[in-house]
Amino acid sequence: MPAIPSLSLRRFCLTLFLASALSAAPPLRSGWVYVPGAQEMIGAGKWGCVSGLTASANSLTIQAGSGYNTITNTTGPLLQVTGDFSVLTTVSTSSSNSGSGVFLTLVGALNTGANWWEGLKRLDVGLAGNAIGVSYWTGGSGNGTGVTMPLPDGVSGTVDLEVARISNQIVVFAGGMQVGAFADPGLFAAGRVYFGFNVAPGNTLTVTSLAAAMPQGESNALSAPYLQTAARSGTGLRDAAAARGLLIGAAVDPSHFSDPGYAQALGREFNLVVAENAMKFAATEPAPHQFNFCAADQIVQYAQANGMQVRGHTLVWQQALPGWLTTGSYTPAQAADILKEHIEVVLGHYKGQLIDWDVVNEAIAYGAPYGAQPSYWLNQLGSGYVDLAFQWAHAADPNAKLFYNDTGGEGLGAKSEAVYNLVSGMVRRGVPVNGVGLQMHITASSPPAMADISTNIARYAALGLEVHITEMDVRVPVDSGGAATGANLSAQAAAYQNVLAACQANSNCTALLTWGVTDSYSWIPGNYPGFGAALLFDTKYNAKTAANSIKSQLGGQGNPPVIFTNGIVIHGGRSTVVSPGSLVDIYGSNLVGAQVTVNGKAAPAYYQSADLVVFQMPFETGTGSVLVQVKSAAGASLSNAITVEAAAPSILTYGDNWGVVQNQDFSVNSATNCAAAGSYLTAYLI
Ligand code: G3I
Repeated sequence: MPAIPSLSLRRFCLTLFLASALSAAPPLRSGWVYVPGAQEMIGAGKWGCVSGLTASANSLTIQAGSGYNTITNTTGPLLQVTGDFSVLTTVSTSSSNSGSGVFLTLVGALNTGANWWEGLKRLDVGLAGNAIGVSYWTGGSGNGTGVTMPLPDGVSGTVDLEVARISNQIVVFAGGMQVGAFADPGLFAAGRVYFGFNVAPGNTLTVTSLAAAMPQGESNALSAPYLQTAARSGTGLRDAAAARGLLIGAAVDPSHFSDPGYAQALGREFNLVVAENAMKFAATEPAPHQFNFCAADQIVQYAQANGMQVRGHTLVWQQALPGWLTTGSYTPAQAADILKEHIEVVLGHYKGQLIDWDVVNEAIAYGAPYGAQPSYWLNQLGSGYVDLAFQWAHAADPNAKLFYNDTGGEGLGAKSEAVYNLVSGMVRRGVPVNGVGLQMHITASSPPAMADISTNIARYAALGLEVHITEMDVRVPVDSGGAATGANLSAQAAAYQNVLAACQANSNCTALLTWGVTDSYSWIPGNYPGFGAALLFDTKYNAKTAANSIKSQLGGQGNPPVIFTNGIVIHGGRSTVVSPGSLVDIYGSNLVGAQVTVNGKAAPAYYQSADLVVFQMPFETGTGSVLVQVKSAAGASLSNAITVEAAAPSILTYGDNWGVVQNQDFSVNSATNCAAAGSYLTAYLI
């Protein structure tokens, strides 16, 4: 390549200066283009997960103490290369000791053995004294091969470097000029380039641009686990949800993006994500005033690449707090300052990017009598911390939607009442709260009644608040291999469908999120021994019955409930004659989300699936003919007349002939299975 005359070089530098206002990347050589997505490789999510450096939005700073500080970014983006490529960077050394060097490090193969150099294929190119220093290692020895190249005139503390593989040569450019080349010993033969830097003892390196390029027509690509885009089937849960104007989401841990099935299932099925842990206090402020958004940024980047929305979780909670805070000796005033700053910085970082925030999480105790949950914040700031947190959050981002999120108060009952009282009090006091998160960590065997969830959501609508089902999972008993029975998975599916139906029945319920994507990664087995399989996708990312029930519920909202002819019968029997207080079965279709009424008054339902509702005939219903009707968001069934008559005590029958009287060993008593003399019997009565 001909040398570039010095006049052109000056013009080149001027162009770079002007261009740097728009983009930090050094200029491309003629015929070369950026690898898609690789024009700017310093920002969000790319370097913050790497230790040994300080990452800001526009620069990286790497210092070395008494030893070399060598960094390879294995969690951020890497380059997949098949043909020619180059890496462009702007590096500066502020150190007077630059004699020993600051380097761009490109790794073609990671270390595979006990010694740092085993298997390692690495190329360092940088500023070393008054020259461009180059070293490379090919995996067989710790002794690198060194090459020294001249520094162009006028280039000193800051340099635009370009390191290229062109055919079988490694070619180095500095300040826009080719300064040397040597035969490539196959450093990048594996098709991968990890980015890194190496700083010699006592030196400081500042990196203000990093980009990758290739000759036009090459097909190199930038990849990172969190940059994957999922193949969209058009038939995912998110497609059905979007058609209903609903967000369907999942809690995410970005470390799972490298599991190939995970990133695909997430982006294919969901249109909303929430960080399972990455946005909590301990993760985002690991040291006082030092914030790290790396993992959280990776989630946001993934969501943006996949057309998904993001919820923020959570700013104020008594769990997931860093040790420096909980073991530090801060006065209440200092603790207030810490929390305020935390809220301001975290909200500020994501301003305009998230749909809402769980500002305060689980401020009500987990058990009766459901007072304030003991916490660091309660101790330090008193019960006013909840209001304060919302006020600080609103001041930090007046456009952010602010939610209160809690567990165990999804239906009706004492916890639900306590949450409602807290939130309605906030509304009354003018505290800027926009919504309530109902977590919904429930069991398949005793989920909250659908009608109760719906009533609860409706009373938040009356306060002008939005509701999200924020953390749903439905745990079931599992064997030692993590497998659940088909019956339990069906019950789980009904629970998922009922909760979604309750949400759909109320227009203020706008999102349902599950607390994870796959049964492979869930907090349930670790926290509820013997339980698991709580999510919508199995360990192989297959849709479970529950996912299908969610999908059919999303698709089925348009169909009003139907009661089958003679479909209203006494529970477990066939008689259409019932008594006050007796359980009654309604067989039909589209029954999920349905409320039963008797003579226009709501009756309590105990079980609900798409084709069966079990409700109790209210004791106060008179005798005679009554009208039973089933209503859902999609409409109402026809009214069906049944007869209610005063109960003469009777033994319950089940089907035609069984389930009525049990012997002491719980077997059904019959002519051929008599009770032993002197044994106890159990009779089921109405
Ligand atoms: O990442 C560290 C790892 O480096 C370390 O070796 C390991 C040893 O314990 O811990 C790992 O961190 C754990 C983290 O989950 C990631 O797995 C924490 O110890 C553990 O406490 C943390 O638990 C999370 C929990 O919140 C507390 O923050 C769960 O994953 C997460 O599912 C759970 O989520 C909460 C919601 O935020 C609020 N509602 C209830 C829900 C379930 O508890």
